[in-house]
Amino acid sequence: MSKIRVGIIGTGGISHFHMHGYLAQSDNCEVVAACDINEPKLKAFGEQYGITKLYTDYNEMLAKENLDAVSVTTWNSVHCPATVAALNAGANVLCEKPMAMNTQEALQMEEAAKKNGKVLQIGFVRRYGMDAHAAKDFIDSGAAGDIYFANVSYLRRNGCPGGWFGDKRYSGGGPLIDLGVHVMDLARYLAGRPKPVAAYGVTFRNISATDDDGTPKAWTIDTSGGEFERNVEDFATGFIRFDNGFVMHVSASFTLNIKQDHGDVEIFGTKAGIKLGAPSEYYTSDGKNGVLDDEKYNKPSGFNDIFDYQVAHFIDCVKNGTPCIAPAEDGVALMRMIDAIYESARTGKEAIIEY
Ligand SMILES: NC(=O)c1ccc[n+]([C@@H]2O[C@H](COP(=O)([O-])OP(=O)(O)OC[C@H]3O[C@@H](n4cnc5c(N)ncnc54)[C@H](O)[C@@H]3O)[C@@H](O)[C@H]2O)c1
Repeated sequence: MSKIRVGIIGTGGISHFHMHGYLAQSDNCEVVAACDINEPKLKAFGEQYGITKLYTDYNEMLAKENLDAVSVTTWNSVHCPATVAALNAGANVLCEKPMAMNTQEALQMEEAAKKNGKVLQIGFVRRYGMDAHAAKDFIDSGAAGDIYFANVSYLRRNGCPGGWFGDKRYSGGGPLIDLGVHVMDLARYLAGRPKPVAAYGVTFRNISATDDDGTPKAWTIDTSGGEFERNVEDFATGFIRFDNGFVMHVSASFTLNIKQDHGDVEIFGTKAGIKLGAPSEYYTSDGKNGVLDDEKYNKPSGFNDIFDYQVAHFIDCVKNGTPCIAPAEDGVALMRMIDAIYESARTGKEAIIEY
């Protein structure tokens, strides 16, 4: 097979990590085209990577470039339309997390992948970290027993990225859909991908973190593509039940009065509990503590590294037909969990996940 022809839709922050991954795979693929509605950003991206086929309309790029693979790295509200268009144009897709704005969109994307017989990989990048590998191997070996509870968090003290991240119309929600999704996915993946059946959730918008002049504190305020509102929750917490009895508690914040940013993934079984980290640790009911530090986990797990592993897996799936470890159905399951927490937060009652 000749080199896989790749296109990038959305040339913002995270697209550079996808590019890093594609460049590491340059024996197998080439990024030949890129698209963004923000022309200056697109042009700078093209210059940085020597990509000359630049488009402000992804439909035009898909019609002209005969792409085998596409990374969808836009803000969340464009994940569904861009992914469906790319799949219908015959490309395989690596779509950033969260898969979509809601379950309904995620189902449309899953259907488009099935209909076209293409790979749709969701950007659950934490699955490729060595901590995740160590925990998965330990659990799959039976050493943790039956997994029945996970406690996961992704908490920032004052870290709303601003811009579209703070506007539900573009993001679909706040820290739950943006940050919580990473740790919720990891716990569900490690627990053997059970089916979510119900959730109870609460969201808060209590803290208006502003500079002295009233400007919301944020890492970036990028108003390209629209006037962004600031209407997402600043903290969310929820409790999810699964069909096999497994339960998960999640907390996620953009702003919360804590000492410092932190996040935990703890997962508990009948024989042992595991806390992910570098290295991951385990604790057993007969009083043993240990670390999961086998030589094979001794590989770099920085941000660029896990994106490289993720892209390498995507290229492997496209080129060799290797089964995808982060398929559309897992993205759909995550959107069901997120929708149910937001619905419960609205109604004050447990939300039942209907199939
Ligand atoms: N996996 C991770 O750890 C991680 C980290 C950060 C962001 N993300 C995800 O990556 C995605 C992008 O986030 P970001 O931080 O790069 O945001 P960003 O704002 O830096 O980039 C998004 C880009 O999408 C472009 N865009 C919007 N609509 C478009 C359209 N119709 N066609 C082409 N381009 C369009 C915007 O102009 C912008 O340049 C989000 O879904 C986010 O959740 C994932």
